[in-house]
Amino acid sequence: MRELLAEQGIESVSGLTLDIGVSSMQLDRADRGFSFQADGPLDMTMSQAGMNAADFLNEAAEEDIADVIYRYGDEPRSRRVARAIVMARPLERTGQLASVVRRALGHKPHDKKDPATRTFQAIRIHVNRELEELERGLEAAEALLEEGGRLAIVTFHSLEDRIVKQFLRNRSGGEGGGSRHMPEKQASAAPTFAKPAKAVRASEAELARNPRARSATLRSAIRTAAPVSSSSSARSAHP
Ligand SMILES: C[S@@+](CC[C@H](N)C(=O)[O-])C[C@H]1O[C@@H](n2cnc3c(N)ncnc32)[C@H](O)[C@@H]1O
Repeated sequence: MRELLAEQGIESVSGLTLDIGVSSMQLDRADRGFSFQADGPLDMTMSQAGMNAADFLNEAAEEDIADVIYRYGDEPRSRRVARAIVMARPLERTGQLASVVRRALGHKPHDKKDPATRTFQAIRIHVNRELEELERGLEAAEALLEEGGRLAIVTFHSLEDRIVKQFLRNRSGGEGGGSRHMPEKQASAAPTFAKPAKAVRASEAELARNPRARSATLRSAIRTAAPVSSSSSARSAHP
């Protein structure tokens, strides 16, 4: 977004909101291939370009598929799912993938959570490089916000929320918080964000109106006048 805004002659902004992840519009359209509830082409790409879910599942090594499902889906039986996926190749449809995962993990009709949920989330995050994009978005936000500018981010699962929480803690003088992708703030660097506000989650009233808000978390912070530390600025300027 820094480059895109610069093309419009915009060097800084006073407010920045990120509403992360997949949209209801995408989930509800079977032809986008995000949902395990409706059969559609195994796509899952947000930009509808590049490697899609079918490419990954039909070409990647079994252990890479298991690794992605474990890391991004927190699926303890990721190896069993990956084995079943490789055995069922070629996979072209979301309905096919959902039934392969359900058979591999066992699916009882009254299961509260569909066993395919974690695998679909994992493949989506991988195919769209969502966590890397989020980290780069956070660094660009740090560089773009003017003093007193406000950053507000809505995330939808713990992997995303952890990255945002660690980034804001790290950039507001809190300890730790570096991730394997993002450089630690130099200890000497002045905090670029004031102490973040307390995380906000959906109220009972909102959940009654919109059950999809159940896993949403809003985190926000105000930008200080401190410059972006050289190690961070180098990275966000040239991802
Ligand atoms: C949760 S939805 C936003 C929903 C919207 N705020 C609304 O209320 O209808 C997230 C949107 O961000 C888009 N998106 C995902 N990754 C992105 C990225 N790296 N850069 C820009 N947009 C992205 C998705 O395609 C999706 O449409």
